[in-house]
Amino acid sequence: MTWLRRGVELFEDLDAGALAFYLRAHRRPEVAGWSARDPDPRVFEFVPAAPARVLDVGCGGGRHGHALAARGYEVVGVDLFERPLRVARARPGAEFLRAAATHLTDVLGNRRFDAVLDVLGPASDLRAERLGAYAAQVRALLAPGGRWIVFSFLSEQELAGAFAGFRVASREADAVGAWTVAYA
Ligand SMILES: C[S@@+](CC[C@H](N)C(=O)[O-])C[C@H]1O[C@@H](n2cnc3c(N)ncnc32)[C@H](O)[C@@H]1O
Repeated sequence: MTWLRRGVELFEDLDAGALAFYLRAHRRPEVAGWSARDPDPRVFEFVPAAPARVLDVGCGGGRHGHALAARGYEVVGVDLFERPLRVARARPGAEFLRAAATHLTDVLGNRRFDAVLDVLGPASDLRAERLGAYAAQVRALLAPGGRWIVFSFLSEQELAGAFAGFRVASREADAVGAWTVAYA
């Protein structure tokens, strides 16, 4: 009953507004992937040096996953929705899986990553009460010394609870959102 589990995960993770937004946005492939945009160059500053294992949560059409794979990283992208994953899988180089941010280990098992990346993904969209569950998944999936790299619309204050127990290495805000780099 995979469809039922997916439905439960959707409603657990997203409130009605975010769900409606993504169902509408993902109808158009060029929007579904956010892939028409260039990768954010700050991603390449924050990830550990290649070769390293990177998990891109809320990967959309894989604009960062593909750019990282081209630079020698081993990349797994995950997204809650199938449509952006289709856009991502149309290009070779990285692996793209369907998973909810709060249920990552269901599909990733005991795989471990040197960095978990979230660019305007779940840390911007999750119901507030699910942020802790997402953080627990990130902690489980990071290798020792691994980094969680987040670019979020949420304020530092809103994210602070999720980062409790992580060592925050850097924070910087810009006109769109805030970057946080934290170690498990
Ligand atoms: C604004 S797009 C950004 C995509 C990509 N990170 C980028 O920078 O191009 C956000 C993506 O996060 C995904 N997403 C949102 N909430 C999620 C969740 N709880 N679990 C997994 N993916 C999620 C959405 O489906 C969407 O593809």
